[in-house]
Amino acid sequence: MSMSVDDCTTIRDGFPRPFPNTPTNVIEQFKLNGRVAVVTGAAEGIGGAVSEAYAEAGAHVALFYNSNDAAIAKAESLASTHGIKTNAYKVDVSNAEAVQSAIAQVVKDFGRIDIFVANAGMSISKPILEQTLDEYKKQLSVNVDGVVYCAKYAGEVFKRQGTGNLIITASISGHIVNVPVDQPVYNGTKAFVTQFGKSLAREWREFARVNIVSPGFFDTKMGAGPSALNEAYRMAVLGRQGHVKEIKGLFLYLASDASTYTTGSDILIDGGYVLT
Ligand SMILES: NC(=O)c1ccc[n+]([C@@H]2O[C@H](COP(=O)([O-])OP(=O)(O)OC[C@H]3O[C@@H](n4cnc5c(N)ncnc54)[C@H](OP(=O)(O)O)[C@@H]3O)[C@@H](O)[C@H]2O)c1
Repeated sequence: MSMSVDDCTTIRDGFPRPFPNTPTNVIEQFKLNGRVAVVTGAAEGIGGAVSEAYAEAGAHVALFYNSNDAAIAKAESLASTHGIKTNAYKVDVSNAEAVQSAIAQVVKDFGRIDIFVANAGMSISKPILEQTLDEYKKQLSVNVDGVVYCAKYAGEVFKRQGTGNLIITASISGHIVNVPVDQPVYNGTKAFVTQFGKSLAREWREFARVNIVSPGFFDTKMGAGPSALNEAYRMAVLGRQGHVKEIKGLFLYLASDASTYTTGSDILIDGGYVLT
């Protein structure tokens, strides 16, 4: 039953909570000096750009990769260019034990985790009537299980520390039905992680923020394939895919003290695709 006006005037212990002790200068708010960030799917594409953004802002970065060992050279180059600490970890996010032990190793190597970006994903874009059950399960294992495992084990670290910040890469495919290629399973996985992330924002309210980034088409290996490319240009009101440099600012905002009042948000960055 809803509370009455009288019930609502009762002052609750501990409220309002204090404002955060963060800089008022906005450029200072965006700095990540000394913070420790983990990015999955970090070798290239969106995760590669996010790793760069965090290194440029002064964070130490743990780059998780699965098959693309360009992450090793990328970690070395970010460390030498920006004078920060980095390391690359080979982790299949669909393997819970691998995720748990890699996160424990990051804590050993870096001392803590301030920011965790659950970005790894994959798609097998087919109608369900043409998709095998193995293909369905594969997408769930990376896009859903992988995000859940990362959140669970990073969340344990955040709770222990009393602070943390989880950012999940979902997709506009969790909001709308992409055209012209039918890909119901991928779309469903992204809807799951969007609602999962919002729910964690409440569950972890005492110690961590959780936000979701929902990109439209970006020019990466997972961007629009040949059969979707022209339609991606037509649907986005900006008439093109995004360049990964255009997503760095949003991930930096969410990781930084510029966003201390932002939690449970799902931010679209899609060149206006969902408007049409
Ligand atoms: N590009 C787009 O248009 C777009 C739009 C909306 C959402 N997204 C989402 O953005 C995220 C990044 O994609 P992207 O566009 O940057 O494409 P990408 O460069 O192909 O990145 C996908 C990443 O996921 C990693 N990955 C796949 N399976 C994995 C596994 N089992 N364990 C660990 N990592 C695994 C890959 O790692 P390895 O290469 O090391 O194997 C790769 O780095 C994905 O979640 C994707 O769904 C992309």
